[in-house]
Amino acid sequence: MPGTCVIGLQWGDEAKGKIVDLLTEHHDLVVRYQGGANAGHTVVTGGQTYKLSLIPSGILRPNVQCVISGGVVIHPQSVLQEIDGLTNRGVQVTSNLMISDRAHVIFPWHMEEDRLGEERGSSNGEPIGTTLRGIGPCYRDKVGRSHAIRLGDLYRANFAERLKKIVADKNLLLAALHAGKGFQPLDADQIFADYSAYAARLQPFVTDTTAFLLDAAESGKRMLFEGAQGALLDVDHGTYPYVTSSNSSGVGITGGSGVPSCYLERVIGIVKAYSTRVGGGPFPTEQDNDIGQHIRDRGNEYGTVTKRPRRCGWFDAVATRYAARLSGVDTICVMLLDVLSALPEIKICVAYELNGRRITNFPSHVDDLRLATPVYETLPGWQQEISEVRSYSDLPENAQRYLARISEVIGRPVEIVSVGPDRAQTIMAEAAVV
Ligand code: IMP
Repeated sequence: MPGTCVIGLQWGDEAKGKIVDLLTEHHDLVVRYQGGANAGHTVVTGGQTYKLSLIPSGILRPNVQCVISGGVVIHPQSVLQEIDGLTNRGVQVTSNLMISDRAHVIFPWHMEEDRLGEERGSSNGEPIGTTLRGIGPCYRDKVGRSHAIRLGDLYRANFAERLKKIVADKNLLLAALHAGKGFQPLDADQIFADYSAYAARLQPFVTDTTAFLLDAAESGKRMLFEGAQGALLDVDHGTYPYVTSSNSSGVGITGGSGVPSCYLERVIGIVKAYSTRVGGGPFPTEQDNDIGQHIRDRGNEYGTVTKRPRRCGWFDAVATRYAARLSGVDTICVMLLDVLSALPEIKICVAYELNGRRITNFPSHVDDLRLATPVYETLPGWQQEISEVRSYSDLPENAQRYLARISEVIGRPVEIVSVGPDRAQTIMAEAAVV
């Protein structure tokens, strides 16, 4: 059973890229299987920082095959920019990258629908706070089928004809949403010319990745599945509607990649030592105060993709335990522990109080989550720098106690701890996979 999975257990930005990068050394291929250019992964290696969005972090290792499978939505300009950026820095991107011909393509109308949707507000009142990358509208068209275009369609003789029909309908829709004000209709001929040029450049990478991955799984290749966003943003199981439009918890791995669950051996859940969230939606442990600002400053909590300041708060074990169970997590990796080093006390939310009752299950309705008040346990901080620590036993006693408590409330062992952005700043338990 050759598959390892890396899943964020909060609202994204858990620093998964660093762990994926470490794990790739032990794998033959890395698969991105959901989401799109709304994701941002940062990998720091040899003093160099790489910011990736669609291309799996494994691209920095020459012998690792990187696969963007059919569950991903592709913004061709973004992939090409990433390819060019990597090539200019001497990173080889040739036959080591594959993109599924089943992946759906993001077009200019998707970005415009996303923008207008946010501007007009959702039926819930608060905007979702999307990344404005057209992700939701593209997935909406994928499920709707009549107005969707997959990467493989760009190479078919009827592409221009289909595009014309779709653009005509999208112009009607967008004109209505603009209520006649300042609307510039989309030009199907221009879009055809642009997307044909992108298609030509992407052609060497486009293939049937499902067939490739099934062959790889059956021949025992070691596969690493790289989740984007976090489980609490999962479209079915997250804080709906304040979620992304794909299955970003563990449940999305098989659907997005086409690799059945019998090949998934180990699921690593990634958490930050605290919580963050970008965009709208409930966040019970949010600290909209000096503590939150302290975490934001020390953790550089600003979006990789949108640069928005992230909302920061205490570790929420109710939400994380739910995310871990949902994703079939075997082991936990705690990131950014060093960010908490200066604090005299640290809190963990171990339950919620809702309508006068103490609960430890994560509420299914967003309105209940909004009403839930965290029940905290307070632990002493360690107030010493830990970024040079390289073994678990050298961590301050209070840091070990904090990690042990996190492990206990989530119900999974903590086997990897990160104390800084570099590959070297990682503490592994002996049992860890890396
Ligand atoms: P969308 O995915 O752009 O539609 O955004 C939907 C929600 O998911 C918004 O709250 C975004 O801030 C959030 N989101 C999307 N991608 C990421 C990510 O990679 N990290 C953190 N939040 C994300």
